[in-house]
Amino acid sequence: MGRLIVVSNRVADLDKPQSASSGGLAMAMAGALREEGGIWLGWSGNSGTENLTRPELSEIDGVTIARLSLSDREIDEYYNGFANRTLWPLFHYRNDLAAYEQSFRDTYTDVNRRFAEALRDLIEPDDVIWVQDYHLIPLGRELRAMGFTNRIGFFLHIPWPAREIFITLPQHAELVWSMFAYDLIGFQSRGSLQAFIDYVSTDLNAVPSPDGAIDHFGRSLTARSYPIGIDPAEMASLALTDAGRESYERLKDVHQGRKLLVGVDRIDYSKGLPHKFAAYSSFLKSNHELHGKTSFLQIGQPSRSRVQEYQELSEHLIAEAGRINGHYGKLDWTPLHYHTQSYDRAALAGIYRAADVCLVTPLRDGMNLVAKEFVAAQEPEDPGVLILSQFAGAAEQLEDALIVNPYSDDQCAAAILCATQMPLDERKERWRNLINSVTTESLTAWKERFLCDLRGKDADGSTQP
Ligand code: UDP
Ligand code: G6P
Repeated sequence: MGRLIVVSNRVADLDKPQSASSGGLAMAMAGALREEGGIWLGWSGNSGTENLTRPELSEIDGVTIARLSLSDREIDEYYNGFANRTLWPLFHYRNDLAAYEQSFRDTYTDVNRRFAEALRDLIEPDDVIWVQDYHLIPLGRELRAMGFTNRIGFFLHIPWPAREIFITLPQHAELVWSMFAYDLIGFQSRGSLQAFIDYVSTDLNAVPSPDGAIDHFGRSLTARSYPIGIDPAEMASLALTDAGRESYERLKDVHQGRKLLVGVDRIDYSKGLPHKFAAYSSFLKSNHELHGKTSFLQIGQPSRSRVQEYQELSEHLIAEAGRINGHYGKLDWTPLHYHTQSYDRAALAGIYRAADVCLVTPLRDGMNLVAKEFVAAQEPEDPGVLILSQFAGAAEQLEDALIVNPYSDDQCAAAILCATQMPLDERKERWRNLINSVTTESLTAWKERFLCDLRGKDADGSTQP
């Protein structure tokens, strides 16, 4: 069987497996590659002026990490530009925030070509290549143009938007054309897959078959949904490490006698943080008797701080947190603890375990791994309650969460009340169903399903019919 080559913009530090990660993609791929071995190519995270074509290679745990430097202009126009100011807002239904600058698009194409060039000397004939996420959509097309005939798959970690939103992208046709270079495309949810099918049926007059095969532009592509998962056993055991216990015990100690609500998000407008604060504020407004009996710890992990919308959001949230505490705080009670910092994974596991309620309320999210991590870190005898946005991909699987519309402060405030008052039997029953889903649809299952389909082989190595 050929080697696996993974390509993504962001690469995790495999030598520091428990350190905080920026986002779910790096976390998930680190887990998948550790099991599979192979090569992982991505951006070094630094800017450079020299050696821009040859990636720097290192070897960790049987995985070769290849890191490519980008110039300041490339970081600005490809990463902060087309990826994070055009595609990210658009794919998260914020086309009002999307910037359509030609230089962004041009540099995006150039950087995708540079990734392809960096791969040229690494690829062997039997290798399978797995490209990740919106930064690298045209990479498959660049590799085909160089003559590579390997199996190439693509997985989109963020939502695929409804057709009416997607066609506001001036280059929508070209982007979808480039996707037909892949053999297999994976989406996080049935909703995203359906939106892609709507587009190809309406705009290309293509007729997808029930198994996801779509023939067009002289190529045959398969599009399916592969909801990404986590390693639940790892998360449960992290909560019991020294670092996990320390954060657990400190929180239990400080919030003794109170219900602890927790949220963990990158500071990103897709995560619905202002709505979450407003919902908590509304909960406090209508439940005076619970003042002093509930606290909310929101971790806001800094993200993409060179992009103006992210800077503005960050300032806005600090002001809002101050307003809530100013209005409702008491000498012996701070209603909202807002921490704008990253936590490593063991500390997070302890925080999840100490929480009575986890609030995962994005306005749009491809999947949301925090929701699954929270479930995995719970104590079976006294599990916490998950409040989950209907607009997160995870809502298709975690049906036993309290599913909410994050745009409705009232509905979210009612869910907070319900979660804090929920009897133990109901909490246990819901948690059993949630942990079943998290365990069955794990990270390993996700990776194996995708790679079997990409290689055209079953997990035991036999060829698929
Ligand atoms: N995370 C972390 N430290 C933090 C905050 C988050 O390691 O301080 C991790 C979290 O455990 C999860 C990932 O970052 O694995 C976030 O993934 P998710 O899918 O929830 O959202 P994304 O940031 O990818 O949009
Ligand atoms: C989301 C995206 C990932 C990205 C992560 C963190 O999970 O799907 O591709 O790596 O956010 O964002 P960053 O811009 O820091 O890589």
